[in-house]
Amino acid sequence: MVSRVIPVEDFDLVIFGATGDLAQRKILPSLFRRFHAGQMPEGARVIGAARSAHSPESFRAFVLEGLCEFAQVKGATRADYAAFVTRLDYVTVDARGTEGWERLRALCQRAVTRAFYFSVGPSLFEDLAQRLHLYGLAGAETRIVVEKPFGRDLASAKLLNAALAAHFEERQIYRIDHYLGKETVQNLMAVRFGNMLFEPLWNSQYIDHIQITVAETVGVSGRGEYYNRAGAMRDMVQNHLMQLLCLIAMEPPARFEPDAVRDEKLKVIRALEPVAPQDLVRGQYGPSADTQSYLQDVGASESQTESFIALKAHISNWRWAGTPFYLRTGKRLKHRASEIAVVFKDTPHSIFGEEAGRHRNILSIRLQPNEGIELGVTIKEPGPGGMRLIDVPLDMSFAEALGPEGEAVPDAYERLIMDVIRGNQTLFMRDDEVEAAWRWTDPIVQSWEGCGAAALSYVPGSAGPEEALRLMQRDGRRWREIRE
Ligand code: BG6
Repeated sequence: MVSRVIPVEDFDLVIFGATGDLAQRKILPSLFRRFHAGQMPEGARVIGAARSAHSPESFRAFVLEGLCEFAQVKGATRADYAAFVTRLDYVTVDARGTEGWERLRALCQRAVTRAFYFSVGPSLFEDLAQRLHLYGLAGAETRIVVEKPFGRDLASAKLLNAALAAHFEERQIYRIDHYLGKETVQNLMAVRFGNMLFEPLWNSQYIDHIQITVAETVGVSGRGEYYNRAGAMRDMVQNHLMQLLCLIAMEPPARFEPDAVRDEKLKVIRALEPVAPQDLVRGQYGPSADTQSYLQDVGASESQTESFIALKAHISNWRWAGTPFYLRTGKRLKHRASEIAVVFKDTPHSIFGEEAGRHRNILSIRLQPNEGIELGVTIKEPGPGGMRLIDVPLDMSFAEALGPEGEAVPDAYERLIMDVIRGNQTLFMRDDEVEAAWRWTDPIVQSWEGCGAAALSYVPGSAGPEEALRLMQRDGRRWREIRE
């Protein structure tokens, strides 16, 4: 199945922080892929802006090198990359001073869709927003894109929202959570609201519990300074896992439109109960034969920051009362594997007797890698010898079902950047949504920061601390295997 590519209107996209890691690894390669797919019109331009003293030529050469390493597009040649970089320009800009702004203004004189991507730390958001106005770069239709971390608690998130709101209307602000741009995450909504099959069963009457796992094999070296101040709760749960939980738990929105979807997500966050200390496990990876410990990675002799967290959440509303949501995420785990598992209840009565065993339907949505959906169903074990039951998967791999052989699933940033240009905020977080997520997160973080509780050590390559297994065993349940 070949996906349809609908070109967008001409645009100017200015990337602040264009020489940084995110721009090099994600934003520019994603733009290249859209260019290569034919989605970027002739009149589309990308303007890099950063402190580094590049000329437009040296910036193009810098991007070209990065693309050869990170773009990984099947069939793309160096000539294709070279054609893309002709669309790039560069301005040396001082976010806190005056350098470069007049030149940037001179470059942005065209009457086309204009977006500014703040691929910089949040401490620069306000300076950039102010200067965009001061130098007449922001009109009523200008859009700004801001990256996470959007604050480190409710108070700082409110300040950031207020700083942006002083210069831009909410409809102009695109807060990125790149998990929302992942194909499979969007598929969650398609599966839930495009099929009649699941919705009648999608509640606490039929669902025993839901597990959300985002497991990574990487450690935190290279970004230890940021990570050690954040930890897994702020870095992953407050945003990415929370978004997954919202999409799984929300009521059907009336339309697939920005505010309709975001209103429903917000209701879920607001219905989340506080997490009790006994429903929470925090871990930190130790050393292994070939990897450094967390402490070595962050270059600290002591730290209680968690690189793993598991918790049990409850949503108090009619649909979900009594169905727990178990969330876990961590670095240096067994495999890179993200999955949402919807575990249905046992049949009310087994007509096959005790010896047939206990069987459950599990709907597993694999976010990455090997994106797809698997539904575990119970069937009769083939052969004579009575009615023995086994569970088998009905498996749909998205790559096989949807892509021409070998075609990669699009990167989240491809979709999100094009949505900015199209002016569609559905997959971006609204101010009140971010604040509500922090309002739930803050007391959880305070529960250990207040008393200096230790993070439990776990073995790299494992499934996290043993206590995380017990969190579910206590409830007579168990985590799904972290599989590749
Ligand atoms: C980022 C976190 O937002 O998401 C990282 O800051 C994490 O710590 C990353 O590794 C995970 O993203 P993905 O797309 O690789 O699952």
